[in-house]
Amino acid sequence: MHELIRNRWSARGYDPQATISEDSLIAILEAGRWAPTWGSVQPVRVIVGTRGDETFDGLVTALTRGNASWAPAAAALILVCTRVLEDDEKASTYAVFDAGLATSQMILQANAEGFNAHPMAGFEIDTVVETFSIPAEQAPIALIAVGKLAPRETLDPSIAERDDRERTRLPLSETAFAGSWGMPYRPDSPA
Ligand SMILES: Cc1cc2nc3c(=O)[nH]c(=O)nc-3n(C[C@H](O)[C@H](O)[C@H](O)COP(=O)(O)O)c2cc1C
Repeated sequence: MHELIRNRWSARGYDPQATISEDSLIAILEAGRWAPTWGSVQPVRVIVGTRGDETFDGLVTALTRGNASWAPAAAALILVCTRVLEDDEKASTYAVFDAGLATSQMILQANAEGFNAHPMAGFEIDTVVETFSIPAEQAPIALIAVGKLAPRETLDPSIAERDDRERTRLPLSETAFAGSWGMPYRPDSPA
């Protein structure tokens, strides 16, 4: 794997003093803008706040309790929304798919800029809709926290413990098939 992908992880122990430059933030947003998009529809929109500004504070207000314990230390918060249309299931499905692709590209670009990026579904949708006057056809999908890792000894022990947990995935033999569903593409693939 490319090291950018190998080294990516979703941290919580962010440095509450760290900031992000305008150039880095724009590079992250551009990475999202240039993600693949079904039919070139480009349904994804973002709301961007940097710590200390009004938009960031509005996004922090929407965080659910668990995320509120760490995400306010991010240097930036990016709310990813996408256009879903009640009468067009296919367009809506791919709009959400596009949002995932844009999110993934932004996360990788954030890592390339020297930051950690952590996607979150744990935020109050009604709060962001009201705070930012998000139109009815735009569905808020995820928040991305972009931050710098803090020295471990400065972290609250509960956050340090979460960040220390081992990351695992199902082995490729359970997720990649060939010939027939469930037949591993490579039976001997590593976990
Ligand atoms: C759609 C989505 C929503 C998530 N929501 C949250 C969240 O609300 N809070 C949180 O701490 N992590 C959240 N995560 C991060 C996952 O917990 C994390 O990606 C998973 O544990 C795997 O860890 P890794 O990203 O380090 O590989 C979310 C991830 C995704 C893709």
